[in-house]
Amino acid sequence: MTPPASLTLASQEGRAPRAAPGPEAALAIRGLTVSYGQTPAVFSADATFPARTMSAIVGPNGAGKSTLLKAALGVIPRVSGEVTTFGRPVAEARDRIAYVPQRASVDWDFPATAGDVVLMGLYRRMGLLGRITDAHRRTVRECLDRVGMADFEGRQIGKLSGGQQQRVFLARALAQGADLYLLDEPFAGVDAATERAIIDVLKGLRDEGRAVVAVHHDLSTVTRYFEHVLMLNVRPVAEGPVETAFTAEALDATYGGRLAATHMDSLTLATA
Ligand SMILES: Nc1ncnc2c1ncn2[C@@H]1O[C@H](COP(=O)(O)OP(=O)(O)OP(=O)(O)O)[C@@H](O)[C@H]1O
Ligand SMILES: [Mg+2]
Repeated sequence: MTPPASLTLASQEGRAPRAAPGPEAALAIRGLTVSYGQTPAVFSADATFPARTMSAIVGPNGAGKSTLLKAALGVIPRVSGEVTTFGRPVAEARDRIAYVPQRASVDWDFPATAGDVVLMGLYRRMGLLGRITDAHRRTVRECLDRVGMADFEGRQIGKLSGGQQQRVFLARALAQGADLYLLDEPFAGVDAATERAIIDVLKGLRDEGRAVVAVHHDLSTVTRYFEHVLMLNVRPVAEGPVETAFTAEALDATYGGRLAATHMDSLTLATA
């Protein structure tokens, strides 16, 4: 019996070999403004998420975090702004980006199994008329295994718990074999063990040279999980390495003074 190919090998299968992600920013956003109506949800945002790095986007509810990700991907229109991934316009490099949306925005009733959902991550590579091969099935199993969901391949997605669903959607992103992973609140509503499992997978991706950008609400883990942070409240308030950008002043400005001093005291903050 041949040993299973590593995920990286399996997920590259059928593609020309490509160079490892270069030193360019994994995602560079310049002058991004997005509006659903009269008032901008994101205004004049610049951000540079480095390659080979775990980056967080933090900010209060309604700050435009999900909007920024969706507009960067081109899922919703921009009023203005330029977005590049690894130095190229996003539209030309979609296959290098995997996106895991915020949980509340997904229709959980669709009739698909966990395995089907992960298989969807392979569709772009298979082409519309592509056949599902044993190698594709193997990749699906490897990706589910990597997020600790190997036993649930045949389970209807709507019949999994929230944390299990989150893991399956992460497995789908893994199946894409992308170089940039955009995740919108991957830890929302998951238990401590699942959070640990997800962070391990994300750090593993970073260690392989991929870039991770995640919207993150838990301020107490920002410095432990991430190296780079964007603090957003419609406008970007601060951005940079967590050691210099994640300051009490920046948090105060981002959350409009709504964070209690006692809460701030419990956080690991930059002192710069
Ligand atoms: N489809 C939409 N149509 C109209 N307004 C929208 C739409 N989606 C979001 N908004 C508004 O845009 C603003 C930014 O929303 P967004 O979802 O980007 O915030 P967020 O930072 O992701 O918040 P949360 O932390 O609650 O997920 C909010 O005021 C929201 O009400
Ligand atoms: Mg959101």
